[in-house]
Amino acid sequence: MTRPQVRTAPAEPYDIARIRADFPALGQEVRGKPLVYLDNGSTSHKPQAVIDAVDDFYAHYNSNVHRGVHALSERATEAHIASRIKVAEFINASGADEIVFVRGTTEAINLVASSFGQRIRAGDEILVTEMEHHANIVPWQLLCERTGALLKVAPMDDTGTLRMDEFEGLLGPRTRLVAATHVSNALGTINPVKDIVDLAHAKGIPVLLDGAQATPHIALDVAAMDCDFYAFSGHKMYGPTGIGVLYGKREILESMPPYQGGGDMIRKVSFSGTEYAEIPHRFEAGTPDIAGAIGLGAALDYLSEIGLDRIAAYEHELLLYGTEQLGAIPGLRLIGTAANKAGILSFLIEGVPAADIGPLVDLRGVAIRAGHHCAMPALEHFGVGATARASLGMYNTREEIDVLVAALLRAQEMLA
Ligand code: ALA
Repeated sequence: MTRPQVRTAPAEPYDIARIRADFPALGQEVRGKPLVYLDNGSTSHKPQAVIDAVDDFYAHYNSNVHRGVHALSERATEAHIASRIKVAEFINASGADEIVFVRGTTEAINLVASSFGQRIRAGDEILVTEMEHHANIVPWQLLCERTGALLKVAPMDDTGTLRMDEFEGLLGPRTRLVAATHVSNALGTINPVKDIVDLAHAKGIPVLLDGAQATPHIALDVAAMDCDFYAFSGHKMYGPTGIGVLYGKREILESMPPYQGGGDMIRKVSFSGTEYAEIPHRFEAGTPDIAGAIGLGAALDYLSEIGLDRIAAYEHELLLYGTEQLGAIPGLRLIGTAANKAGILSFLIEGVPAADIGPLVDLRGVAIRAGHHCAMPALEHFGVGATARASLGMYNTREEIDVLVAALLRAQEMLA
């Protein structure tokens, strides 16, 4: 397999105007104001290249993969295979067979809980962290209910930083899997994933990393991280909804039973018994989201052309600016102040109920998320049930942060 090129220092400046022009949704007005889209943690907008790739599939070569013996099917199959290879290259997997296409992060984690989970017994332990979103909590709770296993939780401190001493102490003789987020969706914390993996591996424990919030912001290298599983969603990284990826090391995927039964995941079916297909097809029953995979491939091409390192550097600068500007608002409390953070600003404002902040800034054209962010335990740590959350993407600007700040000050005034 061709290896991704090593990215060197950016040769060109980060051309934000050109990048914004690639995203048609960003140019619109909402509520009579220019859209300021700061809800990228929920989902990102799509560049024209992704929209065109999906459109081209449906308009010109819509067809099923693997099974058709005709020109369109051949083309669709080739495009689907090419996308799997692009994903493998993008995350530095050792081969495309380590890439399982799924609906998104949630399905990827459910797949592992269901399939790898078949080796879990009563009294075994699964270790998660306190900052997980529900997709990396509930599948393990279901597994524990089914098997009598125990869910253990590694705590974080009051900045939202994982307590590595406590984490290490919780790795016990019955720990069968660590499932930890790479970046917290509610707090923005970037976890020290290599340390997490090294500590777990030292005790022979495999590690699943939830990359839903990391993949749009951090250049990924699963070989360097040495994780056993890595789960992520296409739609948060400028690709289509309905497509995501479970990366698994070849040996571990090969040792796992199928997740769902159906077409495309078998080698031979008879009423006396069925032989399953090789990985990754063993885990992909039924017609896949072909357009989604092709769109995801286009998103990866787009990101690779710009370079994740440049995106990360740009977003980091924007995060520092946003932290400073929001911090200057009287009565604003930032939730999640870890030293190592991705572009997520979760906050509360004295005198403004968290649930009202979203609708109030929406009047000014600003899209943020307000609520529990599907991470109730993480917020409980801070004694709150909800926050407002501005989540940054590669196309946001300082001017947009200024519009958010002005909208928040206006909301404060209205409720004073
Ligand atoms: N987990 C997604 C979010 O953080 C939906 O908004």
